[in-house]
Amino acid sequence: MGSLRQIATQMVAPGKGVLAADESIATMSDRLAKAGVEATAENRRRYRELLAAMPGLADGASGIIFCDETLRQTFTDGTPFARAVHALGILPGIKVDTGAKPCAGLPGEKVTEGLDGLPARLAEYAEFGAAFAKWRAVYRITDELPTHGAVRTNADGLARYAAACQEAGIVPIVEPEVLMEGAHSIERCAEVTAAVHAAVREALELLRVDLAGIVLKPNMVIEGRDAPEPSSPERVAEATVEVLRAWPDDLAGVAFLSGGQPPERATANLAAMQHHRTPWPLTFSFGRALVDPALAAWHGDPARVGAGQAALRERVAANAAAVRLAAQLRPA
Ligand code: 13P
Repeated sequence: MGSLRQIATQMVAPGKGVLAADESIATMSDRLAKAGVEATAENRRRYRELLAAMPGLADGASGIIFCDETLRQTFTDGTPFARAVHALGILPGIKVDTGAKPCAGLPGEKVTEGLDGLPARLAEYAEFGAAFAKWRAVYRITDELPTHGAVRTNADGLARYAAACQEAGIVPIVEPEVLMEGAHSIERCAEVTAAVHAAVREALELLRVDLAGIVLKPNMVIEGRDAPEPSSPERVAEATVEVLRAWPDDLAGVAFLSGGQPPERATANLAAMQHHRTPWPLTFSFGRALVDPALAAWHGDPARVGAGQAALRERVAANAAAVRLAAQLRPA
């Protein structure tokens, strides 16, 4: 497991996070269309190259997550994406789940699919050069949800995926995302996130997953999007770290998703986390909070690649600076 642990440690190296650029074809096409860009395979490729080739990206990003389509595409110069980013000092990763689908038996809840044939796909992704993988399970909060059934079923999926990754020599990012959709309180989010994590820990343990060879990618503990009052960064940090304390010390690290928070808010919350002393690094693996400004600045215009990269650079630098605070606040 030596190299798995080394890669996991590298992914959460001080001052660095992981860029999530792994939207499915459908989601990416939708985002391109909303930005006024024609949703073609070539435009998705150009957009991902803009992100991955941003000069200096390796200063703040240890890795980039791609989807299956991108891993099979090349930079304009013909170099496959995984090889190109590796040469830039960035670890390539791959989203291997096939999406959150309606869960039979549990109306209104979803189960993440993609276990069928997973070992063969992991072997192929390893050939492409993928160093790590990602699998996202989602949980919606209402007065009645999530049910115990959805919590258990998704935990089993995450654990089976994580065990398969480790057998294939690929570091799994384990992503249980409690969604911000709704008007719930931060306390309710804490309660649900704690229950979800407890189920995930138990499932990982049953399949003997090495926690030092995974990266946990949780939601921040935060009130629902439609809640009356936003919580302060200090409150979000305190509530999040309190839930995370149930994880053993040997977990390689924690890299948060942004979950649809405005980019500046996600960064402020991440910075506030660094004031807490934890046994594992707390960094970012944001998608929207890093790439939305870049997409808006680019607009699909070849003349605006530099503007798109400048927007990405600003968000990566702000988040890298936030996580670097940890070293300043608690010197080794
Ligand atoms: P967001 O930061 O946009 O939530 O995306 C992170 C991610 O990888 C979702 O799976």
